[in-house]
Amino acid sequence: RGGILVAIDGPAGSGKSTVAREVARRLGLVNLNTGATYRAVAKLSLEEGVGTGDEAALAALARRVRLRGETVSVDGETVPDAELRTPEVSAAASRVSSHPKLREVLVEVQREAARAARRDGGAVVEGRDIGTVVLPDAEVKVFLSASAEERALRRARQSGREAELERIRVAMAERDRQDSEREASPLRAAPGAERLDTTGMSLDEVVERVLGLAREAS
Ligand code: C5P
Repeated sequence: RGGILVAIDGPAGSGKSTVAREVARRLGLVNLNTGATYRAVAKLSLEEGVGTGDEAALAALARRVRLRGETVSVDGETVPDAELRTPEVSAAASRVSSHPKLREVLVEVQREAARAARRDGGAVVEGRDIGTVVLPDAEVKVFLSASAEERALRRARQSGREAELERIRVAMAERDRQDSEREASPLRAAPGAERLDTTGMSLDEVVERVLGLAREAS
């Protein structure tokens, strides 16, 4: 079967990215960040003036995106991570990601990246619908959550924007609402996923739990 796939899903600020990166490092696996593919489409849509409601045009933009290990590219050119993490791109990513046709294209991009990674030993794949839609056959599925207050605080600290805590909390709540209420692949724990509420847990504790699940599965 090749290497192991570890799916980590959860809302913004649940610790997904940090946990996925650390688990991948400890297991010597690649870390596939599927959110970056939605962000790449969002960035393209802002640059090319494609409306966040134009599903067919957005799906066409998505066809220009590739994911290879930790690198996202558009038309074969690597997109620097910093350009994908601006507040404008974050907000647009959540809006464009509601369209089923665009999701269909990006899910294939993500599966292709996971197949390649599996041949090289495996991957830790993070997103919103990895366990439910992208990789329902992943050996390990984890659903991370944390209280809204804690998630906003983590995000504010992570980006050195403590003064903007309230604004971050509001933007995050809006993204959560869009991500969990959308009809196409809403944010949900997959059947059989291990649910971890990380409120009050340290990064190390969460990482150890996920490593334990990965050991049991391999
Ligand atoms: O994980 P990240 O915050 O980078 O994701 C950006 C946006 O992309 C999310 O708010 C969500 O709308 C969308 N997304 C998604 N499905 C995924 C990963 C991200 O819909 N698997």
